[in-house]
Parts: sequence; C-alpha cells; structure tokens
Amino acid sequence: MTKGALALLVHGGTENWSSARWKARFDQVCRDRRVLLLPDAAVDASDVHYAAVWKPRPGELAAFPNLRVIFNLGAGVDALMADTSLPDVPLVRVAVSDLTDRMTEYVTLHVLMHHRQELYLRESQRERRWAPRYQWAAGAITIGIMGLGTLGANAAQVLRAIGFRVVGWSRSAKQIDGVECFAGKEQLGAFLQQANILVCLLPLTSDTRHILNRDVFARLNRNSPMGAPVLINAGRGGLQDEADILRALDDGTLGAASLDVFETEPLPPDSPFWSHPKVVLTPHNAADTDPDEISKYVAEQIERFESGGALENVVDRKRGY
Ligand code: NAP
Ligand code: GLV
Repeated sequence: MTKGALALLVHGGTENWSSARWKARFDQVCRDRRVLLLPDAAVDASDVHYAAVWKPRPGELAAFPNLRVIFNLGAGVDALMADTSLPDVPLVRVAVSDLTDRMTEYVTLHVLMHHRQELYLRESQRERRWAPRYQWAAGAITIGIMGLGTLGANAAQVLRAIGFRVVGWSRSAKQIDGVECFAGKEQLGAFLQQANILVCLLPLTSDTRHILNRDVFARLNRNSPMGAPVLINAGRGGLQDEADILRALDDGTLGAASLDVFETEPLPPDSPFWSHPKVVLTPHNAADTDPDEISKYVAEQIERFESGGALENVVDRKRGY
C-alpha cells in the first residue's frame, strides 16, 4: 500500500531554512514515502497525510483534507497558533537535546558576557585603556529564568553548575535541584525582585505578549555588584515591548540587553537596536533547528504513529504552546 505523502512547507528565508536542504534530508530519512516540496501545483492535496512546516502562511495547511499530523520544525508554535484555519489534527513541536544544547550555549554565553563585563572590556580595548574593574564571583549574581520548560530548565541547571544563583518562573509549580522556583502571576513579583539578569525563554501566547515591559524591568533587583539589571530575550520578539526596552536602557533601568528576537524580523535597517551601545544583537539564531536531527525526529515519530504509538511533544492548543 502506498504511504501517505509528507508535505514540506518552509518559509524561513535564511540559510538554515533553505527548502532544498530540508527536502534532501527528508528524502534520505523517509525513503519509502513521497516528500513533496510545496508550493507545487502538481500535488494532489488528498495524498498528503503529514506536513513538516516552518512559518506556513495562514490558510496553507487547510488545503490538505487528509492531514493526520502537523510537525512544526521548531520549538515555538506561535506562528501556527495565529492561523485560524489550522486543521484540527495533532500539532507536534521540536523538543530535542540538539536544540536545547544550542540554546543553553547561547544563554550561557550571554550571561557570562554581561557577568564578566565584556561590553566595558571591549570598549576599553578599542580605546587602548588598561583599566581593570573589580570582577565579582558568579555567586554574587542571581539569574532569573522566565520559562522553565525544555529550554529554561536546562539553562538553569548549567548556570547553577557554573556557580550562579538561579531562580525560575513558570505557569505551573516546578521543582529543579538548586533552583528556587516561582509560579503564576501571583509569584511574578517575588521572582523579579531577586533577578539581576533576566533570561526570557517563554513561548509567545496571549498571556505572555509584551510581558517584557517597563513595569517588569523596574521590579528587577539592582542590589548586585552589577548594579542595573540586564535583559536576555531568546524567546520571541512579541514578548518584548521594544519602546520600553529602549527607554529602560537609556534611563538606566536596564544596564544592557542581549536580544536574539524582534517584533519585526528581519530587523529593519533603521532600527535603533542595531547601533545601541548597550545592546548585543543576534539575528534569531540562538538555537537553530538542525535539518539532520529534526528530519530524523519527524521520521521516527511518523513510524511510531503509524505503528499505533503515541506522538511526543504534542502542543496543547488551549494553552497555545
Ligand atoms: P516549553 O517546553 O513549552 O516551555 C515553556 C515554559 O514557559 C514552561 O515552563 C511554561 O510553564 C512557561 N510558560 C508558558 N506560559 C507561561 C505563562 N503565561 N506564565 C508563566 N510561565 C509560562 O518551551 P521551550 O521548548 O522551552 O521553548 C520556549 C520558547 O523558546 C519557544 O516557545 C520559542 O518561542 C523559543 N525559542 C527560541 C529559539 C531561538 O532561536 N531564539 C529557539 C527555540 C525556541 P509550564 O511549565 O508551567 O507549562
Ligand atoms: C526557533 O525560534 C524555534 O522556535 O525553534
């Protein structure tokens, strides 16, 4: 019997999202299944049982009447949740150690960069200034992680192992060794008042949109040797109020920010973030999804699903993540 086809719909626009590259990987791991690179006018929509997608346009997935599972080729599903015609089939997201490790590298790199006063040291080097500042120990700094899911929990453990104090905040209560955990809106204030470096690894939902705002920045802890607190956002651009971030950096409410994500991507050339002296900017590549790893992950899930097994990492549509 012919197996249902897998449709590949990738609209990333960057090197990692080259659809030809993803097609080649999926052809290798789904040898006995047709892999259709969309858009393709010759495709019979009723043949498609699975879709592997990144940022499909609203309405694109509704064209497949026999769809059984949608695989999002990244961790965050906010783009799909915004599609009001998304077919009512299981939606699976990426949660694999390859992506988690990449995010933990990014978070560790940026926490250390601010903790070790790299912005000041690079400026001193450019100006040929030999002017060491006292370097405090990791234990003097508390890292506050918003989102203690797959990514946040791993970053918390690694930062803890380096010697930082770590506190975390999530929707439901958590227990992570050595990490003081807070949950829900009622405990947000208690969490913020401890954090010197705020790391955001939340999903973008109706509850979390613009959660990184002036009110939150003003409640962060300023009593560490760092002085003004620092923001690191690698979740989604929609989590941040960008005008508030700029104002907070300019008036000293925030000492610096590392931003991997923005409300508008690619970031427009005239954005003030590009040249802001207190901003360390990366082009939404804190944690890339690797075509080799993720095509295998999707192929294994399809095999298991067709043998009657359960899908892993299915999104809860009511929660939106
Ligand atoms: P996850 O496993 O679903 O974890 C999400 C965490 O956020 C959970 O701890 C959840 O709480 C918490 N949360 C959700 N809504 C909340 C709310 N209203 N209040 C408090 N906490 C809330 O997701 P993940 O795999 O760690 O990924 C997180 C996000 O990272 C993704 O959604 C994506 O946007 C982003 N991301 C970015 C990149 C990049 O390259 N920049 C790469 C990958 C992912 P509970 O535990 O109680 O459910
Ligand atoms: C990347 O942003 C992802 O959600 O995996």
